[in-house]
Amino acid sequence: EPRTLVNPQNQLFYGTFIYPKTLTELEYLYNTAVAVDQNGTIVAIERDCDLPKATNTLLPRLGWSPDSVTINTSSASHNQFFFPGFIDTHLHAPQYPNVGIFGKSTLLDWLETYTFPLEASLSDPAKAQTVYNRVIRKTLSHGTTCAAYYATKDVTTTNLLADLCLRAGQRALVGRVCMDQLSPDYYRDASAADSVAATRESIAYVQSIDPTGAIVRPVITPRFAPSCSAPLMADLGKLAAETGLPVQTHISENEGEIDLVRELFPAKEIGAKGDTYTHVYDTFGLLTDKTILAHGVHLSEEEVEIIKARGSKVSHCPCSNSAITSGAARVRWLLERGIEVGLGTDMSGGYSPSVLEAARQAALVSRHVAMTCSPKKGSKANKNGIDRERAKLTVEEVLYLATKGGAKLVGMKGKVGGFEVGMEWDAQLIGLGRDVADGEYEIEGKGEEKEEEEGNVDVFGWESWPDRVAKWLYNGDDRNTRKVWVKGRLVHQRK
Ligand code: GUN
Ligand code: FE
Repeated sequence: EPRTLVNPQNQLFYGTFIYPKTLTELEYLYNTAVAVDQNGTIVAIERDCDLPKATNTLLPRLGWSPDSVTINTSSASHNQFFFPGFIDTHLHAPQYPNVGIFGKSTLLDWLETYTFPLEASLSDPAKAQTVYNRVIRKTLSHGTTCAAYYATKDVTTTNLLADLCLRAGQRALVGRVCMDQLSPDYYRDASAADSVAATRESIAYVQSIDPTGAIVRPVITPRFAPSCSAPLMADLGKLAAETGLPVQTHISENEGEIDLVRELFPAKEIGAKGDTYTHVYDTFGLLTDKTILAHGVHLSEEEVEIIKARGSKVSHCPCSNSAITSGAARVRWLLERGIEVGLGTDMSGGYSPSVLEAARQAALVSRHVAMTCSPKKGSKANKNGIDRERAKLTVEEVLYLATKGGAKLVGMKGKVGGFEVGMEWDAQLIGLGRDVADGEYEIEGKGEEKEEEEGNVDVFGWESWPDRVAKWLYNGDDRNTRKVWVKGRLVHQRK
């Protein structure tokens, strides 16, 4: 049964709006009104006006009667601002119970030890319902308005994940995981044909509950090359061509994995034009302009050229790459080669459900890239072909990757990730709390109460708005995420 989400009425948002304009530049709109219609689309933006003027001029122009419009304001006294919703371009819903549990493992033993047993257990619908509901609630509370999910190989509970996303109003790509080799007997597709049939079944279901794909959409999901046979990858490549659906998989995450791929898929055997990981996917038609490749830590120049030519994108997962010691992805290097990059939490390879944390870690990992690649004597360029300073990602850049950049990976370019007329209202209301310099807290001993209620960011009152945003990036958390909307619909509110 198709279900449709209905927004209650037209809405006017008023106050301070901050959003990534370009990779390097945030736009700051003060005393601004943003009108959002019943479909959740931004239909007008009025800058530099007070609220009475906005209601008196904007509403008649739109033909909206004042009593049919909900007004939402950002509170100036609590350092509130509207920011685009975050896009998590790579995470595993069934792995949520394992966040933080990875010991000293690296990818291949992490999969065997922690991941496959948990994923297999999620074929229990009751367990899946509990875990998936929590994942959705938790990610929404951190401002994730759109997520590219891997579910498990189980069709019923994969479909359940799509149901729950739709019900909660979180935009999602939902992928039934394909894996027909080199996985444990208890968690493996019986054959390539079975895997493809199960994928088709899940695709049909997800499309049936949301025929326009406004909220949930299916995504073809070969887990990664080692766990997929050549016939399976070839069939999934054909399925992608036939359906035009997006594809998601992992690439070049860990050195052991890369060696394994070279061993499993010799170029001669599969008819590849080269012997890299990228050639394997390319040979089977899995690199399309709708393909999201997670990690890409150890890609070569040659591989990036192929990825660029196909228009495939990269999901950077810094928390995961540090936690399971995969390596430091060179994001600047990717960007300078024209690759579209977004951020992924990669739960539970990554330990956090928060895209803000992923953005913060992306900034730090870029500094490790800068530090560990010392420039050659007499040259500004390091061994990765970029100089130290250029490797570092700024606050503006990582917040772009978390929003507008990510939108390009999930097929929502120009639709979400900013506040522009024609875009949809996927947004969060961020509150940094009252200025500390207010004095009130000190006098009445309310400092601790403030922290409890308003979060970990101390704003003194003299900071510029760019400085406040930097404080939010490096010290903020879900306590600062006061409200979250998807397509104009309120999907989370902090009590
Ligand atoms: N490669 C294959 N499966 C996985 C997974 O579940 N997580 C990560 N990070 N890498 C993978
Ligand atoms: Fe992953």
